Amino acid sequence: MDVTLTFLESQGCGSGEYAQKRFKIGHRYSYTGCKYADALHGFEAGSRRDRRPRADEGVQFPVVPEDSKLRRCAFPVTSALCHALRIKGHVDLTHAMSSQPEMPTFPFARHETYHPPPENAKLRRECPIAKVKLFDNSEAWILMNRKDCCAALESEHLSADRRHPAYPEIHEGGAKAKEQRPTFVNLDNPEHDEQRNMLESWFTHDAAEKLRPMISRVVESNVDRLVKQHGEHPEKPVDFIEEFAALVPPQVIYHVLGIPEKDIPKLSRDSEVRTSTARDAAQTSSQNLQSYMKDFVHQRVEEPKNDLVSHLVVGPYKEGKLTEDDIVNLAFLVLVAGNAALINSIALGVVTLLQHPDQLDELKQTPSLAPKVTSELLRYHTASALNSRRAVKEDTEIGGQPMKKNDKLICSVQSADRDEDYFKDPSRFDMHRPLNPADTLGFGWGPHRCQGEWLSRVELETVFGTLFTRLPNLRLAVAVHDLDYSPPTQNVGITKMPVLW
Ligand code: HEM
Repeated sequence: MDVTLTFLESQGCGSGEYAQKRFKIGHRYSYTGCKYADALHGFEAGSRRDRRPRADEGVQFPVVPEDSKLRRCAFPVTSALCHALRIKGHVDLTHAMSSQPEMPTFPFARHETYHPPPENAKLRRECPIAKVKLFDNSEAWILMNRKDCCAALESEHLSADRRHPAYPEIHEGGAKAKEQRPTFVNLDNPEHDEQRNMLESWFTHDAAEKLRPMISRVVESNVDRLVKQHGEHPEKPVDFIEEFAALVPPQVIYHVLGIPEKDIPKLSRDSEVRTSTARDAAQTSSQNLQSYMKDFVHQRVEEPKNDLVSHLVVGPYKEGKLTEDDIVNLAFLVLVAGNAALINSIALGVVTLLQHPDQLDELKQTPSLAPKVTSELLRYHTASALNSRRAVKEDTEIGGQPMKKNDKLICSVQSADRDEDYFKDPSRFDMHRPLNPADTLGFGWGPHRCQGEWLSRVELETVFGTLFTRLPNLRLAVAVHDLDYSPPTQNVGITKMPVLW
């Protein structure tokens, strides 16, 4: 029996060289393509190459007459077919053809509190390599599963350079960002490695461990301040974001950069305003920080000490590889790169633990479980879900899907962190899940994997290992649904979080 199906090229699944092909049931094919296209053609879903057709398992396949107008089908139809094939072994094509939804627009919106947009799970199930529409009506590939995201983020055929015309912007502000001089986050090699290496010794696993005592002091002093200002048992709710979560991450970075202790309270307020308030105030605070950083870098050029900025001065600056302005840009990058993701991870972590009281009790009994809690929170929330975007530099193939030069590509690392083929019961928060640091794609993958990962881990471990020991009655003053969340199409976060303790 033969099966012939045609897929709409623009919808992703099964397109490209396999767009229209005859498959002979009972034969063995070396076939690459979307896993649902595989299933449709009689291969076990899930893996990619050289699988035995399932005809010998007695599955019936739909036969499409050569002259049928039903030969054009879009991916939702293929998924319906796959589903039916796997469950019943037979499908009525006419019925399956009845609806053909539009290409979804990216970024997808969260529907409920902090939970990932439902499109993630749907696409992962139905068409893990799909096409989405962006705000400017352009189209981009989106990769939903972990294996394909890793392959893409390792690929030399893709570019992270924001100035590349095919770099996918996801809102209008992106066009402005394109004009700015990029830091290594948005550069390809060799420039990327050259700049990244200048900072690397400050962000290794060992370097982050050495910072643990300083980070502990910062966390403890912020809890001390909370208690001093609001009492052992406050009567009025306190905004956890403004009074704690938004202060700890910049204070840690200020210490790393070498900012004098006396300037930190004022600067950390500017950092807090920069990330959380109205546009004008945020802009003023951002300018304050920029101009402070400029003066600070100049001081270190005159008189280097033992900190990250001085390290850039005595090395690359003296060797003529960086200008003073370059150092200001890099210092600012380090300050802002992971700030929002860390603030959100702290807040989301507290809420998630409060919603899982058994696990929270365990953590209170055994604070040394904080690293496990941290790893699972990073996977569960993927606080930096929109970053891993790339331009296709030359014709290539990812996960069996041909991609053309100048195509746009988005790796949904948030979806990858819930990939059922990799994680067992991925929508469950389980701090005992056996996780290696590299399992989560929340910090990206490949040469651009987050440089602040180890620092972030130590910081979050310290926060979750300290907070509930010092404030065992910490609780929300409103229902989880009544917290203020970041806009649903932006990275998941909490903007207001009244608490008591
Ligand atoms: C929970 C906290 C954080 C999360 C979830 C996070 C997430 C990410 C992700 C997903 C990327 C990859 C972007 C891409 O593929 O294009 C990235 C890159 C980066 N992050 Fe983070 N980040 C966090 C904290 C930090 C911190 C605290 C710092 C600074 C100390 C930092 C500095 C960087 C830098 C410099 C890069 C660019 C690396 C490169 O291009 O080689 N991040 N981060």
